[in-house]
Amino acid sequence: MEALVQLLTDRALQCTIAELGADLSELRVTSVSGGFSRNRRALVSAGDKTIFVKEVDVDVLPDDGETELAWLKKDYEVTRLLQKVHPEFVADWIKLDGDGHVLITTSYASADGWLWRPPAEKSVAERYISAVLAAVRELENTQLTAEMVEEMQLQSFVATELGLDDGIDQVIAEADIRRQLIDNYQILLPEQSKVNQRRCQKMMELLGRSDELADISVRAKRFAKQPEDCFNHSDVRSDNLAFHPQTGELKLVDWNWASYAPQGSGATEFLVDMARHGQDVTPWLEELNAEMLAAFVGFFLVRSLKPPLKPGDNLRQMQALSAAVAYDLLERT
Ligand SMILES: Nc1ncnc2c1ncn2[C@@H]1O[C@H](COP(=O)(O)OP(=O)(O)O)[C@@H](O)[C@H]1O
Ligand SMILES: [Mg+2]
Repeated sequence: MEALVQLLTDRALQCTIAELGADLSELRVTSVSGGFSRNRRALVSAGDKTIFVKEVDVDVLPDDGETELAWLKKDYEVTRLLQKVHPEFVADWIKLDGDGHVLITTSYASADGWLWRPPAEKSVAERYISAVLAAVRELENTQLTAEMVEEMQLQSFVATELGLDDGIDQVIAEADIRRQLIDNYQILLPEQSKVNQRRCQKMMELLGRSDELADISVRAKRFAKQPEDCFNHSDVRSDNLAFHPQTGELKLVDWNWASYAPQGSGATEFLVDMARHGQDVTPWLEELNAEMLAAFVGFFLVRSLKPPLKPGDNLRQMQALSAAVAYDLLERT
């Protein structure tokens, strides 16, 4: 029972009981990998039925969880919308329950062969990356009315948020920030793969070169001027998508950042994630939006210095590595 209570609260368990038509004693609750949010999530089974449950736990959040509740609602509404226009890329079934605190969807469990991380085998990884890039490209053409954009809060924000982020300028202006960053990379470095170690080294060198940092700042600001006319998930990472290598099916989840963004934004964020995971992204370098990569550098650098969201999570390390990967890829475009 105790493990149950840790994964989901009573509210979510009640919703699950109703959904599965089971008793509490029949429920099997298992944890899932991935995710950087403070939401609770688990797979819940009764008999031969399994569902995925994600819950906003207002007790661990500031502002009574208002922000996260709005995100959960958006996740739900965008999924519903995409079920009509691109059903192949989203969960077949989704329900917002528990007074808006509990999102329940079809299970795409790793036990059933779904991959929530890049595959180890090279040929599968190639199919995986190609499938995601094709989906992201197709999703870019999603045309929605102004009313829908307004209603689902799909207004563009990526180019300005990233391009006009003052992170890189803070890094340029403040020696203290540069020192902190270098210290962080030094701590991070020993635990990384060879390729990421090299990227961390390169980033530490960059932090000592003001002319090159200034050049990146200029390129980042150009990103803010790109037209934002492509629909994007805006958080395309391996922990937000499931791929089934046997069938080639692909499901994207966690739509709360969805928005109109510059062309290639989805491909760029995904390829940064792939490269960070050690995948060779050489075949897809032309898909990268170089100005977005430049914007990523400062954006992720300053965020990596913030305190962790919750004790022991690796969000800040992920951000530090993302900055280093973005810089490495920028050099290769
Ligand atoms: N439908 C699902 N079936 C199985 N596992 C899922 C499903 N949706 C999400 N997950 C698992 O939960 C993790 C986090 O889900 P996500 O919706 O991205 O939540 P968060 O908002 O916490 O990032 C995913 O990385 C995956 O491991
Ligand atoms: Mg997620």
